[in-house]
Amino acid sequence: MIAIIAAIQAEIDALLKLLKDDTICTLDGISFWQGHIGEMAVVLMQSGVGKVNAAMSTTLLIKHYAPEVIVNIGTAGGLCEDEQIFDLVIADQVVQYDFDTSYVDGAEGIGRFVPCDKALCMYCEAVCKALKMNYHTGLIASGDQFVGRDSQLRALLQRFPKAKCAEMEAGAIAQVCAHFAIPFAMVRSLSDIAFQEKSNLSFWEYAEQASKRSAAICAALIQAWSDKQV
Ligand code: ADE
Repeated sequence: MIAIIAAIQAEIDALLKLLKDDTICTLDGISFWQGHIGEMAVVLMQSGVGKVNAAMSTTLLIKHYAPEVIVNIGTAGGLCEDEQIFDLVIADQVVQYDFDTSYVDGAEGIGRFVPCDKALCMYCEAVCKALKMNYHTGLIASGDQFVGRDSQLRALLQRFPKAKCAEMEAGAIAQVCAHFAIPFAMVRSLSDIAFQEKSNLSFWEYAEQASKRSAAICAALIQAWSDKQV
């Protein structure tokens, strides 16, 4: 079984449109939908927003469903000049940019990095190419903030100049997956570009469409992944 994690309702709704024969179940207040994408059995979970919600729910997901692979989808805020709204960002690694013990550990204490599964990352890239969707592969920056104010953007990019986008769950999901040795992929679609004016309004305008793009890539990834198994 493959598990998909999304944080907010728009992201869940986009994926539910692609899920066949789905049934819902609630465990400890977390919603799970089981169904199929093609022949592949899938469970979709709504993590809620932020790293604590993501860590708690991902642990529950793994203990209850023991998925072979986890894919995190949804929206993100672009951090680079060459990015456009709706572009996809595929993580090759994830950093918790707000993890900071540098006062006692020195520079080593800044950020907490987890690499993503290389094979899944390459499948995501192949699927984006096949669907002719613009994508960027690189570092996803994860923290408990919606990034858009100048001060937030400057602080983040000063420490992690290679970050491609900011979001709020991937760092926790990555750490929990690494702990339980579950391969994982992260593919996000940009609902806002953090250095553009009023990117908070752009989020509300584009979140639904961006959610659809990342759900579509996820479904194609699962199809490609399950074809490889036969
Ligand atoms: N999700 C979508 N856009 C985001 C942003 N700018 N910062 C954090 N999470 C996001």
